[in-house]
Amino acid sequence: MKAMSKLIVANWKLHPLSVQEALRVVKASDHKHAVICPPFPFLSAVGKALKRAALGAQDVFWEEEGPHTGEVSAAMLKTFGATYVIIGHSERRGLLGEPDWMINKKMRAAQAAGLRTILCVGEPKAIRKHGIAAAKKYVAKQLKQDFAGVSGRVIVAYEPIWAIGTGVADKPKESAEMAWFIKSFCRSSLGLSRVQVLYGGSVKANNTRRFLEHAEIDGALVGGASLKGGEFRKILAHAG
Ligand code: PGA
Repeated sequence: MKAMSKLIVANWKLHPLSVQEALRVVKASDHKHAVICPPFPFLSAVGKALKRAALGAQDVFWEEEGPHTGEVSAAMLKTFGATYVIIGHSERRGLLGEPDWMINKKMRAAQAAGLRTILCVGEPKAIRKHGIAAAKKYVAKQLKQDFAGVSGRVIVAYEPIWAIGTGVADKPKESAEMAWFIKSFCRSSLGLSRVQVLYGGSVKANNTRRFLEHAEIDGALVGGASLKGGEFRKILAHAG
């Protein structure tokens, strides 16, 4: 049986600084199994430049329009051709204090608008040091709150916080165990049976295969390495 192809999501975060640079990164990233998530100001230019990859946003607000300074709605994202959106990234949860009730509102609004949602979950180091069982409990609580009232197809990015941007990725076997747990928890406790799970946190060209070779892991969410053309191309080569 042929292995399933995997989904590789590029999370550019607050990079790069110019549209010219953004277009240079796009050239190396335009692959049919990729989703490119640039900062809002570059969505239009990146969306026009992509031929094979899908376009995604890094966040979304739950109202369509109104007096909400600084926010961007799902309807607006769709006008740029975005089909995916990342919700609940740990940098937003941590730095901006984004709580689960907000993440849940964003999830529901994005889904209602027809965007494919990538929900980020993952435990801090202080939890993981008590073992994988403690991490599962933490993640289950996030899933329960963030997916309240959500149905249909969803993508979950399991990103242990301590592995993000540190160069120290999780052990692939433990992430695979977590991916299995996320799918079974979503199915049995939340009634969500169509769940893809990505791994994120210091994914690089030299460790991608060890994550993606696990059947439970459906792809990767890549931060830093997604901005380095050659490196990202090597990651994409594992997508199938
Ligand atoms: P990283 O970031 O690949 O730079 O660790 C991943 C993420 O935050 O999505």
